[in-house]
Amino acid sequence: MNQMVDLVIFGGTGDLSTRKLLPALYQLHRHGLAAQLQRIIATGRSEMSSDAFREAAKTSLRQVLDPSQWDESIWQGFQDCLYYVKLEASNETDYQQLKALLDQAQAPVRLFYLATLPSLYGSICQHLQRAAAVSKSSRVVLEKPLGHDLASCRSINEQVAAVFNEDSTFRIDHYLGKETVQNLFAVRFGNPLLHPVWKNSFIDNVQITVAEDIGVEGRGSYYAQTGALRDMVQNHLLQVLSIVAMEPPASLNPADIRDEKMKVLRCLETIDASNVKARTVRGRYDAGAVGGQAVKGFLEEAEYKDAKATETFVALKATINNWRWAGVPFYLRTGKRLSRRYSEIVLEFKKQPFSLFANDPNELTNKLVIRLQPDETISLHTLNKKPGLTRSLRLQPVELHLTDDPNSESQSYDAYERLLLDAINGDQTLFMRRDEVETAWRWIDSIIAAWEETAMPITPYNSGTMGPSAATALTARDNRSWYE
Ligand code: BG6
Repeated sequence: MNQMVDLVIFGGTGDLSTRKLLPALYQLHRHGLAAQLQRIIATGRSEMSSDAFREAAKTSLRQVLDPSQWDESIWQGFQDCLYYVKLEASNETDYQQLKALLDQAQAPVRLFYLATLPSLYGSICQHLQRAAAVSKSSRVVLEKPLGHDLASCRSINEQVAAVFNEDSTFRIDHYLGKETVQNLFAVRFGNPLLHPVWKNSFIDNVQITVAEDIGVEGRGSYYAQTGALRDMVQNHLLQVLSIVAMEPPASLNPADIRDEKMKVLRCLETIDASNVKARTVRGRYDAGAVGGQAVKGFLEEAEYKDAKATETFVALKATINNWRWAGVPFYLRTGKRLSRRYSEIVLEFKKQPFSLFANDPNELTNKLVIRLQPDETISLHTLNKKPGLTRSLRLQPVELHLTDDPNSESQSYDAYERLLLDAINGDQTLFMRRDEVETAWRWIDSIIAAWEETAMPITPYNSGTMGPSAATALTARDNRSWYE
């Protein structure tokens, strides 16, 4: 039976809490999925009563949620679970107040969600321990970014590990909560038809694109110190890559899945100064137009002195040195202010050895296109005869849709709903293990060091395009092209 849980959100009045966590918790409550969630205690630096926090939460929820999702009677029930405690991360007395509130209800499980600056994670955990607010059944959720490089990530992990063991530590990557990412397990390991062809003898290349049309959205200062490689590739893109490329796990247990993802990360070929220019592209958006709206360039928006050294776009060619994937390039790209928002995985199958048809041979490939957003679809691109009486046989693409009819009634959940529910239930499957995060950082650190060593330039691109032309050249050098 599931045990009752008190959830404490550090950074409870911050942007993530307001835009993602509270809406997700409200939705879980609305769908009757979080019966074991006893209280949600938000902490923040401002002085505020729980009633004032409830009012503020109501206002922000009404702004974030679709009006059809608002239900006053659901809200009444939800607000009864909400509490607020003023807490300065370094103030011992504040933790005593939090502990006193936690002790009032004695929920068997305390779930501490850290959505503050990661540099505070270690100190928050130590203070919680000193205040005797942590027990064996307590858990901690760590938001990204988990450090800035391998050394800082290790230091955070070590400080957290001094208080919470690995089985109680939930490192969140919200891409793992997306429905289609989970569907990848079903598609890969549930279909006898696909399983035999999921390897280098059939697949020519894999592409993972996470394109955003937004800019840095008021996060200029954070972003200017981070850049696209650290912000997106280190976590979201490498997590997706590891699921696409992993071996079948022994079971769907968290340890078995995470062991297999980890093996993929360990097999990533290092990108260093010898190959970084051939393997990576850095870009930065200039002014342009997105969706018909004129937008400013990154340097005008970020207003940060070091921003010239920050990429808002990265494309790279990764290779996985193992039996299944040797020889198959994995092209990854992500960027801000691109022409539209979409995230997609494309597996392009090898061409026929010889073409019988009148088409350009480059047109004759099969692709499996897995769309994560804005729509969640999977389609297999096949070829059949173009109808008509012409003598030469021409083929045309036909898409076989493998997912539910988009108009079907099936309920879709936000990634944070899924991940919060899993953390409440203590299921670590969709959370990153310490060795995964650290191995990913080691690979990223080598690219960053190589960029510095080779003074890798950052190429400007116009907002509203798909990035610098060097990204097109990256695939074109291998006689391939990005799937658009
Ligand atoms: C976050 C990044 O992790 O993911 C943001 O810090 C980015 O820069 C966001 O905008 C993208 O998430 P999604 O779910 O909108 O693709």
